[in-house]
Amino acid sequence: MSNPIVQISADASTLYTAAAEQFVARASDAIAARGRFVVALSGGNTPRPVYQLLAGDAYAARVDWSRVHIFFGDERCVPPDDARSNYHLVRETLLERVHIPASNIHRVRGEDDPFIAALAYEQELRALFRAEAVPALDLILLGMGDNGHTASLFPGAAALREPTRWVVAQYVEVVSMWRVTFTPPLINAARGITFLVEGAAKAEMLRRVLQGPYQPDVLPAQIIQPTHGQMHWLVDAAAAAKLEP
Ligand code: 6PG
Repeated sequence: MSNPIVQISADASTLYTAAAEQFVARASDAIAARGRFVVALSGGNTPRPVYQLLAGDAYAARVDWSRVHIFFGDERCVPPDDARSNYHLVRETLLERVHIPASNIHRVRGEDDPFIAALAYEQELRALFRAEAVPALDLILLGMGDNGHTASLFPGAAALREPTRWVVAQYVEVVSMWRVTFTPPLINAARGITFLVEGAAKAEMLRRVLQGPYQPDVLPAQIIQPTHGQMHWLVDAAAAAKLEP
């Protein structure tokens, strides 16, 4: 495991550009090496402008979308047209605007029973990777909540201690909602993991996650440590303000 790379951007818009550039570079490397780019996207507000950039003139033509497979690191258990759905966010900002085959879009069925949806999503990964071993996605994009959660791995959640499953259902008290989430074994097997963190409200949590004592049950983002891949933290100066040099 190599150390995470923390890249600090001067402001939010520079951060979004850095994330879009990284996406394009990872896509072209993966397609050159393996003929496809398998990426898991995150929900939340932070990545929205990145998806919009990727859909725009400056970036869309730099990606061979016919070879991109889109997964979701977590999903809210709501129907796909619900404004809270991560699929809905990505569809509106990105997927409707680029030439990606519908069969390359792998969404969690948030409208179904969460346990069935989690099992089905694991099967969908198994079908694409045609292997029993934990698959290595090319890139998993993650956010971090100001309580230290990532994907839908919230403080104290059983999903944090899941040893074997790749995808699980998790009820999250603080948001009173069922979620379906990638587990630590699946996330940590990725070739690349990139956290995107923006804004002063996350500064104290970012310091604790990156520089505080290891207590993943309290600070779930700490459990993300790639076994072979490379981890990047793309953060803006406001979020990085409390980091020790
Ligand atoms: C979700 C996410 C979640 C998100 C963080 C940060 O579905 O909510 O995938 O893990 O990344 O909550 O969200 P913000 O970018 O909105 O702060």
